[in-house]
Amino acid sequence: MNVRVLLVIVSCALSVVTGLVIARGGSTAGSSMRQRPLIGLSMDTLKEERWQIDRDLFTKATQNAGADVLVQSANSNDTVQLQNVESLITQKVDALVIIPHDGAAMSKAVDLAHQAGIPVLSYDRLITGCDLDLYLTFDNVKVGELQARFLADRIPQDGKLRLIRIYGAKTDNNARLFKQGQDNILNPLIAAGKVEVLFEDWAEDWKPENAKKITNAAITKIGPNFDAILASNDGTAGGAIQALTEEGLAGKITVTGQDADLAACQRIAQGTQAMTVYKPIQSIATKAAELALKLARRKPVVARDTVHNGRIDVPSVLLGIVSVTKQSLRDTVVKDGFRKEIEVFQ
Ligand code: BGC
Repeated sequence: MNVRVLLVIVSCALSVVTGLVIARGGSTAGSSMRQRPLIGLSMDTLKEERWQIDRDLFTKATQNAGADVLVQSANSNDTVQLQNVESLITQKVDALVIIPHDGAAMSKAVDLAHQAGIPVLSYDRLITGCDLDLYLTFDNVKVGELQARFLADRIPQDGKLRLIRIYGAKTDNNARLFKQGQDNILNPLIAAGKVEVLFEDWAEDWKPENAKKITNAAITKIGPNFDAILASNDGTAGGAIQALTEEGLAGKITVTGQDADLAACQRIAQGTQAMTVYKPIQSIATKAAELALKLARRKPVVARDTVHNGRIDVPSVLLGIVSVTKQSLRDTVVKDGFRKEIEVFQ
């Protein structure tokens, strides 16, 4: 009996005892001649600040753990992302980590990787409709719940909160999960007449300029009489706040966000944005490096959760998140070393 089989049996026994699930990689590693495993990282985009941090931390953690990394970014283009994955497969990576632009479109990439015997870890965003090996993300429904809970706590007494909602990219499964979390909190309040949604739209590709256009369109339609913008991330919050600034409304309207981007933390310190959700990128990047390396070495991975991707229950690891306001900036992002106090409060 070889070591791999033994490990699987030990882990399966563990799964019976604890109810955990096991994710396994494909067949043999891409190049058994290589001294260090090679991990391919295929990214949707590097335009937003967070993804640059993800790339840097993931690369560092993977290299420190004894593997090499090849990074490709697709500039929000599905055809390019598929070509990137094909190129990584040709370079015989031992495992693939994919941050999909379009979760459905990238199922083809997973199929191609599997045909080449390469296991795939879906990073932050889910790849749907395929036999994905492993999914690592934050609790995305909870992100939406934290954003909406923040607004629910600000409903005027004896009044209602008038709201504009800006969702993320329709192609991103996360955008739907954030909305689902927001709906969990808001729907009962809407039914009770405590919240009124005056305008809502999806920001294509999560672009700040699209969020700005949505806010402009909302103001054209409903005028300045609204209380809050439920922006689904900091990029779209930034676009919305630009539109508010042009109308002299910045600081008067409560705006949410997500990612603890530096610009967003600065806006929170200055008072033009009210909150963000901090998702520790250090945690996801380090964990991804550890898991990718296990997949590359064809070692079994124990994952506590599963997420259904339309085809299978994907073994999943879900990481925790934190709501951040002006009062808690220092105790959260600064204390965690994610942001420097001097930069945030410059
Ligand atoms: C991520 C967010 C990010 C958004 C836009 C989502 O899938 O979870 O952190 O702000 O994509 O890139």
